[in-house]
Amino acid sequence: ESDASEVEGPTVPVYACQRRTALPNWNQILTDALEILAEEAEFGNSEGRSLAFARAAPVLRSIPYAVTRFEDLNSLPCFGAHSRKIVQEITEDGSSVEVQRVLHSERYRTLKVFSGIFGVGKKTADRWYQEGLRTLDDLRKKEKKLNRQQEAGLQHYTDLNSPVTRLEADKIQHVVQDAVLRFLPGAIITLTGGFQRGKQSGHDVDFLITHPTEGKEMGLLIKVVSWLSSQGLLLYHHMKQNSYKEPTQMSVQASKDRLDHFESCFSIFKLDTPNEQMESSSTAAENIRNWKALRVDLVVTPFSQYPFALLGWTGSKHFERELRRFAVHERKMILNSHALYDTKQNVMLPAHSEEDIFAHLGLDYILPTERNA
Ligand code: GTP
Ligand code: MN
Ligand code: MN
Repeated sequence: ESDASEVEGPTVPVYACQRRTALPNWNQILTDALEILAEEAEFGNSEGRSLAFARAAPVLRSIPYAVTRFEDLNSLPCFGAHSRKIVQEITEDGSSVEVQRVLHSERYRTLKVFSGIFGVGKKTADRWYQEGLRTLDDLRKKEKKLNRQQEAGLQHYTDLNSPVTRLEADKIQHVVQDAVLRFLPGAIITLTGGFQRGKQSGHDVDFLITHPTEGKEMGLLIKVVSWLSSQGLLLYHHMKQNSYKEPTQMSVQASKDRLDHFESCFSIFKLDTPNEQMESSSTAAENIRNWKALRVDLVVTPFSQYPFALLGWTGSKHFERELRRFAVHERKMILNSHALYDTKQNVMLPAHSEEDIFAHLGLDYILPTERNA
């Protein structure tokens, strides 16, 4: 009989796409800390440093127990000296000096607020910080030149930074479904992103739209968006044309292309919230707003690309990044949200389902609810 302490659990694979990462997260305090440092490094343009933290945190998300001792890390991959030190500090002292320093730094806090505005990326947030701006009011007062998207983002900042609930996502789904089926009966509307992974809340609602007869989806989105707009359901939107050219071969560059080429619409919906606040005080009842602004992404895909789009939009972001990295480095294949290409045989690999894509990659199928890396 061996001693219990010598019994090793199953080893944790290196790539996140080889792991099953279900909710909940047993190590949230540790993953929060590592993710703060990853984000801080990203704000500082230290990509390598950021990736190191960003790869360590998901390992802790994937294990079904809480790490309570620094030694627990010995059997885990992706932990460099710096990440280990953070875990050691937190398990031994309850918190990390470095993480606390970041959290209290004016720069981190400001960039966090600015990059939380829809339409503001890390570069813009940093530029504003360098210019001496610190708060949303600074942006409003200075009459800073904002583009239309940032303008809307600033206007609806509070709503867009409060979590979208599953119930709200379902309501939006009904609205979208109704609008799409009005113009294209037989269309398939799928809720993707975090909600597809079983999350109970998210920062937006993501939809994929397709039709089993390839080609029928063309011209659909503009009709849907015009109709939604005419109903007063959109507070903001911008559309992107389909710019995909079916390649005969793909380069590694294609897998680094973070953006896809589907016809899509990035929008802010106006969701009615009737009755919910009726019971609250009778004073100034007319001031109580009965709607909420919500971020919604609509993406239209030809049916033959649908499995790739579904895999690409279900996330998580880290899971996606790891799938592509695994494909290139372990299989010499190029994966994006449109296609999978085998560079050894020089062929495109078609798929009818997500399962087909995992099979092409020689990976065990991972359920959407297990992709919360
Ligand atoms: P929450 O919205 O915060 O709940 O998380 P989420 O996982 O749904 O994130 P998000 O809505 O940002 O993105 C959903 C998935 O779609 C992620 O895996 C992203 O990597 C992917 N995604 C987001 N934008 C794009 C894009 O423009 N192109 C492609 N191909 N994928 C995208
Ligand atoms: Mn989302
Ligand atoms: Mn989204």
